[in-house]
Parts: sequence; C-alpha cells; structure tokens
Amino acid sequence: MGIGGSDLYRQQILDHYKNPRNYGDLDEPTFSHVGENPMCGDTIEMDVVLDDDEETIERVAFEGDGCAISQASASMLSEQLQGMDIEELRAMDRDDITEMLGVDISPMRVKCAVLAEKVAQDGAEIYFGEKDTGKTTVEE
Ligand code: FES
Repeated sequence: MGIGGSDLYRQQILDHYKNPRNYGDLDEPTFSHVGENPMCGDTIEMDVVLDDDEETIERVAFEGDGCAISQASASMLSEQLQGMDIEELRAMDRDDITEMLGVDISPMRVKCAVLAEKVAQDGAEIYFGEKDTGKTTVEE
C-alpha cells in the first residue's frame, strides 16, 4: 500500500476501505464537490450539510472510487468532520490527515491521503464564494 506504521493503523485503514463509513449521497447537502487525483483518475465526492448558522458541520457523506488510502482517508474524515466547526475544516492541512491516518505515507501517496480533505475544503470555499473551480485536483 506504500505506507509504513503499526499494524493497528494499517488494519484500521483497511477496515475503513472495506467498510467505508458514511458512504453514499445526502439528500439536500449544503454543498457537494468532486475531486480527482489526476495521476490515477481516482475520484471522491463529498456531500456536507451545515447547521442553520453555517458554522458547524452536521453531516458528511462521500462516494468514491480509488485506492485504499484515498478511500479510507475519506471515510475517516467523514467521521471526524461531523460536529466540527467549518473553520476547523478550512484550517486542516496534510499533517492533520497524516495524524488521522496514523501511518507514515510515502510522498507518492500523500496526494491519495489528502484528496478528500481538499475536496471538502474546496467545496466549502466555493460555497462561500471564495473560490471558483469546477473540479478539485491534488496536483499543484
Ligand atoms: Fe489514486 Fe491513491 S492511487 S488516489
């Protein structure tokens, strides 16, 4: 898988990959956004529902097609984001994702790991009118 780390964390990643949490669509998301890793074509779509004040993330769901790290990362992130302040999502960086996954990730696989985070962040930025992009990619 291109990752190092303890067996416990590897098992957790495989579990999220095989049994993704919050998988599917939300009926009326506040925003929904799609992104891909152009290196491989893997995609993730994140649906997010904010509370009425648009400050707190109430629900998150995702759909995707891709490697174990990208899909496990989306699944774990979907759990972590629920109840989080939207500003906390926007402040997340790759270190937060690495910490969430609990494994060392090779530079090649970092794009897999951060895809879901970038999709959610771009979705929020587009919703709040701060960014105008049709599709997120992890190529920078
Ligand atoms: Fe495509 Fe990981 S190999 S996102």
